[in-house]
Parts: sequence; structure tokens; C-alpha cells
Amino acid sequence: MADPTSLPNSTHSTARPPLRVALAGLGTVGAGVIRLIESNAALIERRAGRRVVVTAVSARDRGKDRGVDLSPYAWEDDMTAMAARDDVDVVVELVGGSDGPALTLARNAIRHGKGLVTANKAMIAHHGMELAGTAEAAGIPLRFEAAVAGGIPVIKGLREGVAANAVDRLYGILNGTCNFILSTMEDTGRDFADVLAEAQAKGYAEADPSFDIEGTDAAHKLSILSSIAFGARIDFASVETMGISRLLAADIAQADALGYVIRLIATAETATGPDGVQRLFQRVQPHLVPFDNLLAHVDGATNAVVVEGNFSGRLLFQGAGAGDGPTASAVVADVIDIARGMDTGFEADRAFSIPVSGLEAMDPADSGHRRSRAYLRFIVADRPGVLAEITAAMRDAGVSIESLIQKGRAEEDGEVLVVMVTHEGPESAVAHALRLLEGSASLAAPPLVMHLLDE
Ligand code: HSE
Repeated sequence: MADPTSLPNSTHSTARPPLRVALAGLGTVGAGVIRLIESNAALIERRAGRRVVVTAVSARDRGKDRGVDLSPYAWEDDMTAMAARDDVDVVVELVGGSDGPALTLARNAIRHGKGLVTANKAMIAHHGMELAGTAEAAGIPLRFEAAVAGGIPVIKGLREGVAANAVDRLYGILNGTCNFILSTMEDTGRDFADVLAEAQAKGYAEADPSFDIEGTDAAHKLSILSSIAFGARIDFASVETMGISRLLAADIAQADALGYVIRLIATAETATGPDGVQRLFQRVQPHLVPFDNLLAHVDGATNAVVVEGNFSGRLLFQGAGAGDGPTASAVVADVIDIARGMDTGFEADRAFSIPVSGLEAMDPADSGHRRSRAYLRFIVADRPGVLAEITAAMRDAGVSIESLIQKGRAEEDGEVLVVMVTHEGPESAVAHALRLLEGSASLAAPPLVMHLLDE
């Protein structure tokens, strides 16, 4: 059982003991946290009500040059051992990965009565219920603002600012790497791999960039936000996820011709089924976003989250979603939160706004019931009857086509690109049409479906 008294005791004297931080993981963000705590030390002390000092650090490679002086801090080779140190009040976990050393360290921290701050969305998406449950039972603070949308205080916004509202819907751009890639491809015409390499060099991308480009990272973040917004247990496995790796420059050009940009959009809302049961819909998918939608103007590694509260109305949270400074800003804000809370204790701390034991296990909603407009892209053999075959499938499935474009692709002889935008209709009808076309010899590649973002 954790010993909450290992956090410094409440005191109102001006000489409160400092908050002592152990930092695990010294990558882009870890080095940023050290720089921030050093640069803004006086300001942080005034706001936190006590000094915040790093006492111990750990990372995989001690010798690596990170551009920060580590000599003032104790070094631990075994990062999971930092939780047991007597000179540590809060463990900051910046190692990453849903399991492995990050999870061991997080569990150890709670067991040893240390506060826990993490930027690890994969770990929270997979183990957040367990970690928050044990932290709550032990009266230990757990914070993960930096896990979602970098420097944007969207978790604080949902936990605190919107706490009085029923949230109707939340949606937005949660992956800086994808947004950087899409908006840079759109602006420069450069190719996907080239822009991805630049995003990696800038420190936006995950260690395994497939987490970014296949939508997994955004899905981790969405599942965390959904839990707080809708009072539901995290259900990462049910996030319908599609990334941007199948997009072609031609999709970006066609979207542009139709009046849209393409953005990887994460959406969550509750939906009441025909049986009257409320379910949770969560989707990450590239969407066509109309030029006049505010998310169309979110460029580079910026993230933006729209939250619709039943009394607050529509709120927009926007800012840098990745990078050392913004992410460090969110990490240290959480540390300050814990430093402030020491005066009152953490017995009623609720990382997910509602105690974990009170979060509902909501079933996933069936997307087939949703009504949407869709962009469908086919790469087809350029021969008579192909277009008729596709439109017949649409007709037979009851999908109404709003516009249709056929473009020859000079670089791949004998294949053409066919793009359709449908009228609004049930998503199940589009899925039906695509099933009818499955295995067709006319299709040179599986069709690509993206939905249009409607207000
Ligand atoms: N790889 C993430 C992104 C970093 O690109 O948004 C921030 O979580």
C-alpha cells in the first residue's frame, strides 16, 4: 500500500520544503523539462508555493549529449528504481511505450507514494484505469496533461473548465506529425516520405512513426479525452482508426479542387441507439475539412480540439501539439499542480474527473447508423464499363453521388483515379457498396474512404 505521507506535509510557512522531482527519460521532452525548470525557477516557485527541483534523472544512454548539464542530478541506471528514492516526491515518466519500464516505473511510483506525472498516452490509453484506480485508492496524484495535444491544456480544460457541462461532442486534430505532413504536402507539393523525415528531425514523431501515420497516437489521445469528457472507462480498442499513409498527393489535389483540405480528425460523441442505450462513438480518420472550417486553418504541428458543452457552447483549444517546449510546458504545469495540492492533500483526486470506480463501461456505437458525406477514391483500370460498375454498386447500395471526377494518372499507365463525393446518407450504405465491389478486377487498389467534416 502506498504511503501518501512521503509527499511533503502540508505547511503554510513561507519555507515550504521543495518539491523533488525524478525525471525518467531524457529525450526531446525530458531535456525540455530540465531547461524549463531551470529557466523559470523563480516564477515556478512563486506559482507552486515552493521550489521545484530535479533531484534524480535516468535514461537509456548516460553519455549522450542532450544540450543540458546533468551533473547537478543523481543518475540512476535503473529508471524503475527512482520511485524508491527518499529524495523524490514526484516521478515524471517520459520514457514512452505502453508497457515495459515506463509501466513498471509508474506502478512503482504509486506504490511508493510518489506523485506521478506522465506524457505517455500509450500507457494511459492501455493502463490508465488501473493506474488511476490505484492512485486514487492511495491518495496519490496522477497527472498526464502532456499526453494529449502537447502544450494545450485540454485535459485541464475538460477536468476543470468544462466540469459542469454534459459534453455533446469533441473532435479535433490530435497528431502534430500528421498535421505537419498534410499541411506541408498541401503547401509545397513535397512527397510524404520527405516531409515525414522532417517531422522526425523536428522531434514531433513517435519513436515508431507508424504510431503517428497510422492514427494510433491520435487514437490513444482520443480515448483519454473521451473518458474524461463522457465519464466513460477508456476504450482504446474501440476507436475506429485509419491513418494517412494511404493518401496520395492526388487526394490532396482533388480535395482542394472540391473546396477542402485533408486533416486527420479524431471525433468522439455519444449516440443513443434504437434500443435507447447510450453508446460511445470514437473515430480517427483523415477527413475532408471545408476551407471555411476553423480546423482547415490549423497547420504544421499544431493541434486543435473542439469541445461542445451543453452550457459552455463550443470551445476551441488550439496550440502546439508536439515538440520539446510545449510538451515540457504541460509536464511542468502538472508538477506545479501537485506542488500546490500538497497543502490540501489528494484524497479526492480524480485524474479522469470522476473516480475510476464511477466511470461507465460504455459499449461502442455502430458507425453504420451515422449519416455522413463521404469522399471515395478508386484507382481503376482505364477500360469501358468500369465507371458503370462502380456507379451500379452505388445505386444498388442506395448511395447517392453528389459529384464524380475521373483523372488520368500519367505515371501509372492504364490506371485512372475516380473520385466521388456522396450526398449525406447512412455510412452502412457506403460500406455495402464497397462490399459489392470487393474482388472486382476493375479495381487496381482497395478504395479509400474519408468522411467530410460537417459543422
Ligand atoms: N508524435 C506526437 C505527435 C507527439 O506528432 O503529435 C505528441 O504527442
